[in-house]
Amino acid sequence: MTAPLTSRFPYAKGPDGSRRIGYGADYNPEQWPREVWEEDIRLMREAGVNVVSLAIFSWARLQPTADSWDFGWLDEVMDLLHAGGIGVDLATATASPPPWLTTAHPEILPVTATGETVWPGARQHWRPTSPVFRAHALRLVREVATRYAGHPALIAWHVNNELGCHNVYDYSDDAAHAFRTWLRRRYTTLDGINHAWGTAFWSQRYSDWGQILPPRLAASHPNPTQQLDFKRFSSDALKEHLIAEREVLREITPDVPVTTNFMVMSGTKGMDYADWAASGALDFVSNDHYVVPGARDRDELSFSANLTSGIAGHRPWFLMEHSTSAVNWQPVNLAKNEGELARDSLLHVAHGADAVCFFQWRQSAAGAEKYHSAMVPHAGADSELFRAVSELGCTLQALAPLAGSEREPARVAVLFDWDSWWAGELDSHPTSRLEYHREALDWYSALLRLGIRADVVPAHRTDPSSYDVVIAPVLHVMPQTLAKELTRYVEGGGHLVTTYFSGVVDENDHIWLGGYPGALRELLGIRIEEFGPLLDGDSVDLDNGATGSMWTDRIDVTGPEVEVLARYRTGAYVSRPAVTRRTTGRGSATYVSTRLGAEGLAGLLPELLAAVGVTSELPEQARGLVELVVRHDAESRYLFLVNRGDECVVLPELSGDVLLGQSSSGSLVLAPRDVAVLRQSAT
Ligand code: GAL
Repeated sequence: MTAPLTSRFPYAKGPDGSRRIGYGADYNPEQWPREVWEEDIRLMREAGVNVVSLAIFSWARLQPTADSWDFGWLDEVMDLLHAGGIGVDLATATASPPPWLTTAHPEILPVTATGETVWPGARQHWRPTSPVFRAHALRLVREVATRYAGHPALIAWHVNNELGCHNVYDYSDDAAHAFRTWLRRRYTTLDGINHAWGTAFWSQRYSDWGQILPPRLAASHPNPTQQLDFKRFSSDALKEHLIAEREVLREITPDVPVTTNFMVMSGTKGMDYADWAASGALDFVSNDHYVVPGARDRDELSFSANLTSGIAGHRPWFLMEHSTSAVNWQPVNLAKNEGELARDSLLHVAHGADAVCFFQWRQSAAGAEKYHSAMVPHAGADSELFRAVSELGCTLQALAPLAGSEREPARVAVLFDWDSWWAGELDSHPTSRLEYHREALDWYSALLRLGIRADVVPAHRTDPSSYDVVIAPVLHVMPQTLAKELTRYVEGGGHLVTTYFSGVVDENDHIWLGGYPGALRELLGIRIEEFGPLLDGDSVDLDNGATGSMWTDRIDVTGPEVEVLARYRTGAYVSRPAVTRRTTGRGSATYVSTRLGAEGLAGLLPELLAAVGVTSELPEQARGLVELVVRHDAESRYLFLVNRGDECVVLPELSGDVLLGQSSSGSLVLAPRDVAVLRQSAT
């Protein structure tokens, strides 16, 4: 089950017409005087840039008043770029409504849960469900599309920008109206919604659709299913906006592929991108990713790039933004160390990116992002940064042969699920300390430490049977269909590993009764009567040497053929099972009842994986230090070897032609933060 993307990827082409990896940035020429534009094109060519995203925040410039248009400057920029051999991913420019629009129509401004207006002054101050905003935005899209249809520089359309970055949750009356329409589509009748939302509780029963509101500030905990549905609705409302813009573009330029830039990274929770991609709204997936420096920033980058590939059905995707060095929006904005610019970019390429772009081309001299790095820094082109940028341009040219190859599937999958992220972290739960993304990342980090390749894939859109091992951390929301699919998987010989708080509720956030985890109880052969969350700072020891925190479960073994792989040695559930595995024919279902963290999981996983015959493909001394990712096409396998650390790593005995990197007497030498690419024959 892959996403219905059309695979119309806007490849840059070399002089002989062969595919190239795209390279470039957001280009904001309207921030600069005309004389800078020619220098821009010259420097772009010097750096190997072959694609830019243009006009993302240009609405006020393109449409200075409600009834006037100014395309002259953009015509000129498009022509200059084309003359320079640079393709344009042209934005629909709808991301930031101009002051004339918000002054004439303040009713397009979003409203917070506490009833405050989100005023203009920054960007994305628009309600996803405002009919007035929609009409103005689509008028602009039509003008832009009509004007540039057939322009030779145009290679793709870029809808809006980072939909939902600042405006995913809007509690306005427009939102209330659209929420009711969405609920009617989902539940048809008031009885349906009263059942789904459990409104018998706290006298919340609705007798008219008009009584239903978004979960605005309430006296106490708002209805959980209302909250979950509002999250689903809010993601859908943005998707609808995306589709509305896409429809105009397809009507006018059916042959130009359409994308919008996702933000698959740990802090972005509001948009179910797997659903967006699967809805057919896009021709190819694009992503923006920014590193938040920290102990596991390498792991998070890899996890996000990997998940982006999963969302894209493992087809090539477009890295629309990342940074050459510091950003401006973190509490402390660290510059990247030498080598990090290229390594970050190439790790995305390893995970399937066929274009590598930055925010932005030239560092702004004014505005909120003037301290954000760019390809051309304030210091100018005579800078270490620009030299590193140009070097990466050369590297990407050398990697042209792998453009169009796909990520080779791994044997292990980590499932990722927006419903479980949203519902698992709602209030009024056994603990408020559960962090869905962190748990998923813990498992992935453990796999990276062990040097085991894994795919991060959307839970509902992946055929588990294509994997030997499926890890489903905190898969909290378990519709019956998914429970059945996982059961079939295990009965068919698959190996499922899941954790605490999985399989506890259905799609309406109703408990599966009869003992936890109701939906997986039979499959796992265990029954839990009460959850045992832990206080901050408390931990429990397991008899396998691991330490658990945040959560424990009081487990009874109820099924046949259940082995206890580890027991609690301390805590309230001392000597009860902590980790169990039920074997069913050739398959198995493992349950981990506490938060072991990456280190504890790295201790547990070898036992689970050895039983299945999954081992690292890396030489022992490289495990944890080097990340291996494989891309492939009909003829070749491309092995990316990414040095994750600051020490040199020497890899002996790896066969293949060196496409990138240094080899010395048969060994591959990975300098600190270096990336090597080997090509092997596919046969
Ligand atoms: C993104 C956005 C860009 C720029 C960048 C800064 O969220 O799309 O326009 O603001 O972040 O990191």
